[in-house]
Amino acid sequence: MPKIVLVHSFRHGVGRSSLVANLGYLLAEQGQRVGLVDADTESPSLHYLLGLEDCRPAGTFLDGLTGRCPIEESAVPVSHLLPPDSGALFFVPGAAAASPFDSPDLLEPISNACLRLVQFYQLDTLLIDSQPGLSRQALLSLTLPDVLLLVLRHDWRDYQGTGVTVDVVRQLAVPRVALLVNEAPAAFEAAALTAELADVFQSEVVAVLPHLDEMMVLPSPRIFARHYPAHPVTAILRQAANKLAG
Ligand SMILES: Nc1ncnc2c1ncn2[C@@H]1O[C@H](COP(=O)(O)OP(=O)(O)OP(=O)(O)O)[C@@H](O)[C@H]1O
Ligand SMILES: [Mg+2]
Repeated sequence: MPKIVLVHSFRHGVGRSSLVANLGYLLAEQGQRVGLVDADTESPSLHYLLGLEDCRPAGTFLDGLTGRCPIEESAVPVSHLLPPDSGALFFVPGAAAASPFDSPDLLEPISNACLRLVQFYQLDTLLIDSQPGLSRQALLSLTLPDVLLLVLRHDWRDYQGTGVTVDVVRQLAVPRVALLVNEAPAAFEAAALTAELADVFQSEVVAVLPHLDEMMVLPSPRIFARHYPAHPVTAILRQAANKLAG
């Protein structure tokens, strides 16, 4: 069964886009057909991570919702980023929008656009880079996925915001909620932090990732797992990707 995974966070800048790029890359590298959607209308950045700064796509995710361009025509094939004998990778660009798609009328178009992408490209997994927080737009997106991945840092504001988000998504009946801690301080042991978070949020924790200086200075395309295939953190990311898609 194809899976829609929404990567969300309460706060900005916690690593959502980097995770979408890396998790998608790793699933495709293992043979899956994967779609990546940039649904963040505040700071779309997946194109930059994928090395597509100069790409002029036929349309954006927003165009797909408003009917300006069929969603499948907006998808850019990016399988050239993968090693030989991989699956396939497609990317639907985002666009900064002054008036984001926050009308409940768009709920059906958002859902239809995702399903259309999955069907047209025969995707195994669709990963969506969400707008952060609990805006109307974010709340609409939270109703979509089979799996919601909440990204947070080990920080009291993230804990508070993630707690509120977990409460909200429980009411929205999201089928599966998973947590990922990014840039965990080196002083904390991953297993202890996993146990603490699972207890605090009563949710599954798929990975605890350290801060990586390498992540901040990647050459284009800025996908950590592609530059460091044998790095221990790539192994953790691969494991997390497989848990989410499993
Ligand atoms: N584990 C990590 N170690 C070091 N730097 C990281 C790590 N994860 C992400 N970063 C860096 O943090 C910054 C923010 O990451 P990213 O853009 O993926 O976050 P985001 O949640 O999508 O942000 P925004 O809310 O602005 O869309 C980037 O410069 C990225 O390279
Ligand atoms: Mg982002």
